[in-house]
Amino acid sequence: MNSHSAGPRYQSIARQLKAAIEQGELLPGKRLPASRVYAQELGVSRATVESAYGELVAQGWLERQGQKGTFVSAGVVRGPTTPEPVWFGGEQPEPQPFQMGLPALDLFPRAVWARVMGRRLRTQTRFDLALGDVCGEMNLRNAIVEYLRFSRSIECMPEQVFVTTGYAASMALILQTLSKPGDRIWLEDPGFPLIRPLIASQQLELCPVPVDDDGMQIEEGMRLAPDARFALLTPAHQSPLGVALSLPRRHQLLDWAAHQAAWIIEDDYDSEFRYQGKPLPPIKSLDAPQRVIYAGTFSKSLFPALRCAWLVVPAPLVAQFRQQASYAACGVPLLWQQTLADFIHEGHFWRHLRKMRQHYAQRRQWLEQALAAHGFQVVPQQGGIQLVMSVEGDDRELAVRGRRAGLAVQALSDWRMNSQGASGLLMSFTNISSPAMAQQQVRMLQQAIK
Ligand SMILES: Cc1ncc(COP(=O)(O)O)c(C=O)c1O
Repeated sequence: MNSHSAGPRYQSIARQLKAAIEQGELLPGKRLPASRVYAQELGVSRATVESAYGELVAQGWLERQGQKGTFVSAGVVRGPTTPEPVWFGGEQPEPQPFQMGLPALDLFPRAVWARVMGRRLRTQTRFDLALGDVCGEMNLRNAIVEYLRFSRSIECMPEQVFVTTGYAASMALILQTLSKPGDRIWLEDPGFPLIRPLIASQQLELCPVPVDDDGMQIEEGMRLAPDARFALLTPAHQSPLGVALSLPRRHQLLDWAAHQAAWIIEDDYDSEFRYQGKPLPPIKSLDAPQRVIYAGTFSKSLFPALRCAWLVVPAPLVAQFRQQASYAACGVPLLWQQTLADFIHEGHFWRHLRKMRQHYAQRRQWLEQALAAHGFQVVPQQGGIQLVMSVEGDDRELAVRGRRAGLAVQALSDWRMNSQGASGLLMSFTNISSPAMAQQQVRMLQQAIK
């Protein structure tokens, strides 16, 4: 922004801000810096910045929200730019309204984490400076085993656990160990789109299998690609529809895999967050034929910047996975693995999970109520950290309009491959921290898509 425009200083600041809003650099809902901070940065008095903000509030470009600060108004008209879909993360310093894939960043016990990590750092020995186990630190793998036993009824040995830097790294390890070019893989349709390029890069053939109220239609999978070598599913809460794979289908899938010598990859990324009803057992806990590779992550239960996920592989595959893992060594720094192991062993993880279940149930309710109050309908879901809002017509167009208004909503159609079905907007509620915030964001959405 050019700071040498003519006119009183406050007017030139107001002009620059207005131009930034018009050009889409400052999106609706964006909080402006506190006037004191902005004044220091510009080398002007606080009153000058206050006057600039006041002018733009009067013109409707900005709105004040009491103690919370000054924000770019919802629904301001901007130029014709069409922002790209916001996936997970991106370069945004703060979560955008409805941004998916993020846990509640405001509720993570950062002080506890810092204390646990500080203690580890202070007590490290010179041996902690060397490379650790290529499959992950044993104390972390033990902690994961314990967590899986109590929380997911999965019995496994620490040797079966492989620590990785995230879901994509877990998938890469699986495919590099077990797949060959041309192998076919069942994928849920609709399903998580970001993993498809990675699978395609290993030269597998993607076989979309439709999803209904009972999860992936296993019979369709058997009809469309009976000889597939892999089936990748999110059985606890299908991503994005939130349905659970029914128990008969879990058994049907296991029978098929045992018969075909195929591998089931169970992506259990957000199963911790279920708000009603009793959870179904993970497929891994039913895995008598030893065909299930279980993929978990701490991205949702703790925080995604941790970059820590894990696999549990059937015992007969351990040597093969270990061999493959040794080519790259575990990418999660030792200090983080040790901190995480302590965090779990000392009970902080359990406390955090318990707290988050309550908060997410609450935050989801705030969003559902705000959507209902504005005449929107939510597709019923039993758990997870995102929801689907039903819409009429072209959801891609509506999602683009939402994103133009600074809202990180996604179109259900963008998650589909071959399947046809209802339109919807996908959104997360995890970072909605009050009923007023839910109302404000839904109001912005209504204005954007009406
Ligand atoms: C369906 C699904 N699986 C797994 C993950 C976990 O990814 P990561 O461990 O790389 O953060 C996500 C993250 O958003 C997801 O949406």
